Amino acid sequence: MVRPMDGDNGRMIKADYSKIASFYDKGRSLSAQNTAMWLDLITKLSGASKGARVLDLGCGTGRFSLPMATRLGFNVTGADSSAEMLAKAEQKDSNSDVNWMLTDAGALTFPSGSFEVVFMSHLLHHVDSPLAVLKECRRVLFPSGVVLIRYGSMDHIRNDVEHTFFPQVSGIDEPRTPTKELTERWLLDNGFADVFSEEVVQQTYQTGEAHLDAARSKSTSVLSMISEESFHAGIYRLAEHVDKNPDDEWLLFDKMTMTVGHKRNIKV
Ligand SMILES: C[S@@+](CC[C@H](N)C(=O)[O-])C[C@H]1O[C@@H](n2cnc3c(N)ncnc32)[C@H](O)[C@@H]1O
Repeated sequence: MVRPMDGDNGRMIKADYSKIASFYDKGRSLSAQNTAMWLDLITKLSGASKGARVLDLGCGTGRFSLPMATRLGFNVTGADSSAEMLAKAEQKDSNSDVNWMLTDAGALTFPSGSFEVVFMSHLLHHVDSPLAVLKECRRVLFPSGVVLIRYGSMDHIRNDVEHTFFPQVSGIDEPRTPTKELTERWLLDNGFADVFSEEVVQQTYQTGEAHLDAARSKSTSVLSMISEESFHAGIYRLAEHVDKNPDDEWLLFDKMTMTVGHKRNIKV
């Protein structure tokens, strides 16, 4: 997979979470219903119970770390490479339910065999080497540990609202965002066993107007990576669509994937 590169410095082009942190939650908050749905799925797919040691890798503002700790009773570590995202998470964690850690997913500071579950949401398309991250996940897992990867598969997001109204977004996402098949392949190549995926339809927005507001606030990080001209042109087209089609369900629902892999102590 060829990642989107900055020709001037040879590095992968990345969203700047030090800036995104101040508005990330505005358009990304999970409804109570969606939170319950994801917690049920995490419980079912991980088989983990109260007290389980769980790493939320690329935890951001703690959308999942906090409910996994407070509602499921997991012993959660939330790890992220952005101090600003972690600061937002800590502000919400008034009872210190989560252990927050500043660390890079490709070079984790945890000893081997530290966690029963590694969960990640919308992380792998942001990192230089997804394979290096998955290798680290495998290392820090218990011998019987499980990794859960929550994301929008490229074949599902290709025709979503952002990719339709903001064409520059496709140029960034196509080269960096894996499909379900590629994610499963990455896990298998890293020695994970019993790899499979579940697809979930999530109602992200209650109204088209709410989706437009979220887009305006650039809550989907890739909207902060396109030119201002392209962003404003897209917002104009999206606003027109919302105005003409206020009941369009396409504006409300997202198809998401959770891919699972088991460590099972297979030698690699
Ligand atoms: C789209 S946000 C997802 C946040 C959270 N998981 C959620 O679903 O709300 C991506 C997060 O990954 C973090 N991230 C990006 N690259 C990372 C890396 N190499 N190591 C650790 N975290 C990283 C970013 O700082 C950001 O908080």
